[in-house]
Amino acid sequence: MTQQLAGKAALVTGGGSGIGRASALALAAEGAVVTVAGRTQESLKETVRRMEAAGGTARCVLADVTREPDVERAVEAAVEGVGRLDITLNNAGYDGEFQYTWEYDAEMLDRMIAVNTRGAFLSMKHELRHMVAQGSGVIVNMASGAGLVGVTGAVIPVDGGYTVP
Ligand SMILES: NC(=O)c1ccc[n+]([C@@H]2O[C@H](COP(=O)([O-])OP(=O)(O)OC[C@H]3O[C@@H](n4cnc5c(N)ncnc54)[C@H](O)[C@@H]3O)[C@@H](O)[C@H]2O)c1
Repeated sequence: MTQQLAGKAALVTGGGSGIGRASALALAAEGAVVTVAGRTQESLKETVRRMEAAGGTARCVLADVTREPDVERAVEAAVEGVGRLDITLNNAGYDGEFQYTWEYDAEMLDRMIAVNTRGAFLSMKHELRHMVAQGSGVIVNMASGAGLVGVTGAVIPVDGGYTVP
């Protein structure tokens, strides 16, 4: 690795698993001070353990991205000690279940919007306060091809196995 992110502070939400964990590891390998945020202490600690084992600088913070005080705390944790916020990956996401529209649980839809839309908004709100003040910064909002294309009879597209009756 080139250490091209040395001295930079990064925040990854949903950093305790999957793409968030892999991205956090990649950022740390390039020298960024990485904070991972999420709802499960054990999985976040495991991501930190892996970053540190690879020589990176990392920490974690418990945060539910649907709750504004949590998001604010996560952003402040990422800034702490570095004094700036350079890179954020707003990756925390909830996909819900695969169900037809006429069977779909509206509360599941509410949860999806709360995590994926409100969560991304709250994250940007508090990240941008630092980035605007410092005059720089990069925000990546995780999305999905499922937001761009649809399948007749399904609420969201499915990779086979779920056909229109
Ligand atoms: N894997 C794919 O094929 C794929 C495709 C398109 C988009 N995505 C998106 O990529 C992102 C990561 O997905 P993944 O595949 O790594 O799955 P994942 O389930 O491993 O990652 C999602 C993470 O978000 C966390 N999370 C959920 N709700 C949260 C909340 N309220 N507050 C904080 N953290 C919360 C989960 O605990 C988990 O760690 C998601 O936003 C997902 O929608 C994934």
